[in-house]
Amino acid sequence: MLRSLVRARPLRSKPLPRYGQWSSPFIFVLAVIGSAMGLGNIWRFPYLVGQYGGSAFVLVYLACVVAVGLPLMVAELMLGRRSRCTPIYGLLRIAREEGLSGGWSVIGWLGSVTGMLALSAYSIVGGWSMAYVFRSAAGAFHELDAVAAARLFQELTDDPERLLAWHTLFMAMTILVVGRGVRYGLEEAVRWFVPVLLTILGILVFYAHGQPSFDRAVDFLLRADFARLDATALLAALGHAFFSLSLGLGALVIYGAYAPERVSLLAVAPVVVLTDALVGLLAGLALVPVVFQAGLSVVPGPGLIFQTLPLAFGTIPGGQLMATLFFTMLVLAIWISAISMLEPAVTYVMKRWRVERSLAASLVGVLVWSLGVLSLLSFNLWSHLQPLGSWSPLGRGTFFDVLNFFVTGLLLPLTGLLTALFVGWRMSADSSRIELGGGWGYRLWLVLIRFTTPVAVVLLFLHAMGLV
Ligand code: PFF
Repeated sequence: MLRSLVRARPLRSKPLPRYGQWSSPFIFVLAVIGSAMGLGNIWRFPYLVGQYGGSAFVLVYLACVVAVGLPLMVAELMLGRRSRCTPIYGLLRIAREEGLSGGWSVIGWLGSVTGMLALSAYSIVGGWSMAYVFRSAAGAFHELDAVAAARLFQELTDDPERLLAWHTLFMAMTILVVGRGVRYGLEEAVRWFVPVLLTILGILVFYAHGQPSFDRAVDFLLRADFARLDATALLAALGHAFFSLSLGLGALVIYGAYAPERVSLLAVAPVVVLTDALVGLLAGLALVPVVFQAGLSVVPGPGLIFQTLPLAFGTIPGGQLMATLFFTMLVLAIWISAISMLEPAVTYVMKRWRVERSLAASLVGVLVWSLGVLSLLSFNLWSHLQPLGSWSPLGRGTFFDVLNFFVTGLLLPLTGLLTALFVGWRMSADSSRIELGGGWGYRLWLVLIRFTTPVAVVLLFLHAMGLV
């Protein structure tokens, strides 16, 4: 299969990647998969599938992936590999080459800044997950009841100092990897974490398979219930495709910048999106049987992972070990995704101020860390602050809620839309053909990125604004 990912020969001479290069096509694919697999798959996908009609939702999700996710993933990887540069300067370079306005570098700006904003919130959840590794290993979930499980989580979120310590540790781990560079940081992390993560997932699914409630969980996840597929489900699928495939943050642009020249990007993207969807489904098969076995139901939001699951694992045999494995897997998944969120801004700082990678990673990391402090305070000392008041699409949200809303509801779709317009309509088809290699796959991609993607993204956007 690997052979089909590799193109016959390099296309032409281009600037060499400045900050590093993946050492093989396989590592490149693994890195993109690592960025994609994260909270989105483990936490959100199983819930969405159950909520919106099982395999009917999976079908709609796959349709969104084909219409929007795949074309945008190819576009972002291509922009990276073509420019071989950090997203901000890379877009500037391509725009100039094409005789277009340098203003298009706004795509790089939006992506890099959104990556920092997203990471500041993601890191908080990374911290919670690390706390839960220790809690599960120490047997804190044994024979919990619902009230105690809720209290356990609340004790954590209510305590700003504890949250700060976990958030700081998580950001330090992310900075450490990014600071070590592509070969010895990002690549080493991906090489180890992705296989370990998939192995743990396999063990968890195997364990869940032994539970009497497995069949009921399969039914919950896979029975097609088309009646539940309404417009909300469609937009949830579309929004999820964005987040789950790491689109719109510049992460794939910078990962594309390190891609070997001989890899076919049109072949890599389908492998990544299928793996990502499969990981989401497997996460569902690992979690839902455990939840059902304990007589609980699958709830949305942080409650599923940090209250329902501890409760469920606490009541079934072998639950302590499985819970520890689960939270370890979650930490790894969040960690490798976090790395890709930080990388675009770090490479910008390296180029802009000509500083060493480790210094750039620390500077950007501290900035993200400070933003994260605002998020973590919104769970306790500032929980009464509602920055947007009762502005309707959001309800009365805290800083953390507002941040998530802006990132997933507005900034990601906006960057996606601009990327589709730039690549589909402004960049010459010759340039994209050179990078992607022509053929029917290329022609199909061009149609999707020109027409389907922008229309779908505008819909998502209007929905986020509460207009559809
Ligand atoms: N794809 C990750 C997830 O599913 O949790 C989230 C993510 C990572 C989004 C990296 C964007 C990104 F650049």
